[in-house]
Amino acid sequence: MIEDIERVLLEESIILQRLDDLAQKITLDYQGKDLTVISLMNGSFVFMADLLRRIPLPLQIDSWSISSYHGTRTSGRVEFRQNHIADVKGRHVLILDDILDSGRTLRAVFDRLEAESGATNIRSCVLLDKKVQRHTPFVADYAGFEIPDEFVVGYGLDYNERYRNLPFIGVLKAEAIARHAR
Ligand code: IMP
Ligand code: MG
Repeated sequence: MIEDIERVLLEESIILQRLDDLAQKITLDYQGKDLTVISLMNGSFVFMADLLRRIPLPLQIDSWSISSYHGTRTSGRVEFRQNHIADVKGRHVLILDDILDSGRTLRAVFDRLEAESGATNIRSCVLLDKKVQRHTPFVADYAGFEIPDEFVVGYGLDYNERYRNLPFIGVLKAEAIARHAR
């Protein structure tokens, strides 16, 4: 698995240091508020686990299974894999996602929450903010790292469902992209 990585972009220790800052900020901002964190699966499972253990607030957690990526390209279609959404009426909602790329996923999630949930306030927190011309304009309220427009894997992020369990974030070798293409 590691032999398929061209270059490490973010070491695990660097990611965890940054999560300390993000968690501190979020903890201050949501003091005394009824907070529900909704994490978008599968990509944000590692980010969610590491971030939320650094936030000592009485928050609630939900997760939505969502897919929009196929291979190394965004498909343009955001698919919600469940109909149920947690009751967040009157609550503050923080959406967690691994990466903000075209903006389509977070836009679709916000649209759905704004239309159906009755939440008091909805914000977003992404680990990675890709420097690209977004298809759908979207600005994250909290972001861990800005990264260049390259396809990355690890720390929850996948390429055709592989590499999610790498502890760091790295760029794949072209040869590995070709080998696992489908
Ligand atoms: P968006 O809807 O294009 O903003 O894309 C968001 C989703 O696409 C993320 O939740 C990821 O699952 C996936 N994605 C975007 N860029 C990458 C990447 O570089 N590596 C792996 N997955 C990515
Ligand atoms: Mg994802």
